[in-house]
Amino acid sequence: MGRDFLSLFPDLDIEDLRKLPSPFYLYSEQKIRNNIQHLLQTGKKYFPDFHLHYALKANGNPHILKIFQQEGVSVDCSAPVELELAHRIDFPIEDCLYTGNYESQEDFQRVLQYDCILNLDDARRMAEVFSIKIPEVLSFRINPGIGRGAHEGIVTGGEKAKFGIPHELSGEVYSEALERGAKKLGIHIMTGSNVLEPEHFLQITERIFDIIEEHISPLNIQLEFINIGGGLGVPYRPEEKTLDLEATFRNIKSVFDSRLSKLNIGQPKLAMEPGRYLVADAGCIVARVQHIKESYRRFLGMDAGMSTLLRPAMYQAYHHIEVLNQAKDEENYYVCGQICENSDVFPEERRLKKAQVGDLLAIHNAGAYGFCMASHYNHRERPAEYLWTQNKELNVIRKPEVPADMFRNVPDFQW
Ligand code: LLP
Repeated sequence: MGRDFLSLFPDLDIEDLRKLPSPFYLYSEQKIRNNIQHLLQTGKKYFPDFHLHYALKANGNPHILKIFQQEGVSVDCSAPVELELAHRIDFPIEDCLYTGNYESQEDFQRVLQYDCILNLDDARRMAEVFSIKIPEVLSFRINPGIGRGAHEGIVTGGEKAKFGIPHELSGEVYSEALERGAKKLGIHIMTGSNVLEPEHFLQITERIFDIIEEHISPLNIQLEFINIGGGLGVPYRPEEKTLDLEATFRNIKSVFDSRLSKLNIGQPKLAMEPGRYLVADAGCIVARVQHIKESYRRFLGMDAGMSTLLRPAMYQAYHHIEVLNQAKDEENYYVCGQICENSDVFPEERRLKKAQVGDLLAIHNAGAYGFCMASHYNHRERPAEYLWTQNKELNVIRKPEVPADMFRNVPDFQW
């Protein structure tokens, strides 16, 4: 479950890791492939033409993306560079989805150079888009009025969310798209991230069918797809259970079976665009204990802080931590990084193997929203990324930064 380092990297010699400068991200190619195949197989069992887009914002290292491309998965892109990256990695661009928000005109110009599926976050951008060109396939991100996520910051539907088009307007929006000459249409929702309950996916699928029934079916539109977004969760805490994928797809299928035949929308495919589910538990951060301080609390200070992994400071997110030594005794610690912010402390006191300065630590479930949210705060270099391949090779897939990288774009200054 991504909480036991040796089962994630069974043949990796920790002594080899000790020689590398820390901290660094480490991913298992096998685990990523297993995650993709498990999701595809389960999805296709219920929906033979199930379409999976990987939300590459979760981890966009080109070497990781190559794995997705080889497994026949397309991507969901959230910025022009992500689409340009997908093109460079040779994903079939017509299957790739672009879901941005609050774009500039220049963003649209860049995106529309590719015949991808364009997913609009606001119908009022239609005039600008159509003045550039009629998108090959167009969909709209509808805010269904409900949202759910593991932390408030990752709820993306409902009245407080900045995303999507209010569902009440769906009829007008799709009518306008038809009038403007849109040929192929789809519908999209994304209500929140890191959800572990299969019932949630039942609820949002019901909801999107309610919206379609009320606003879209009367327009006699043949929908190419119904995209219910990402949001598939992973257990970060030892006591949490994995998301039951079978039950999730069974739930979604039950809604399609009971409702689709009563509607006038053709035979839309089911599409999804998870990020976290596919990569989170395939990656760890390997960090080093730098100092243990006996203060009002016992702090274990390591070299991976909020500039390496932002989630604990930003969302109070829990990440499981393992001390990679042979100690028999345990001790309680508050685990912190080296950044000058008091939020650079992992939430909750942890019971860990008794640690010594120099010991390696594994921070689990760091494969998603890890490196991509890292920063140079406090002028810390961003870490390296390594891939433990199926052939049991440790490949560097991003070199560690050097100080000059932080100042590369500063004019009239040479490091
Ligand atoms: N599609 C759209 C339009 C999204 O905005 C997102 C994530 C996804 C798909 C993928 O969601 P996932 O399957 O990974 O839940 N930084 C946060 C997560 C923010 C998610 C934002 N949108 C975190 O570290 O938990």
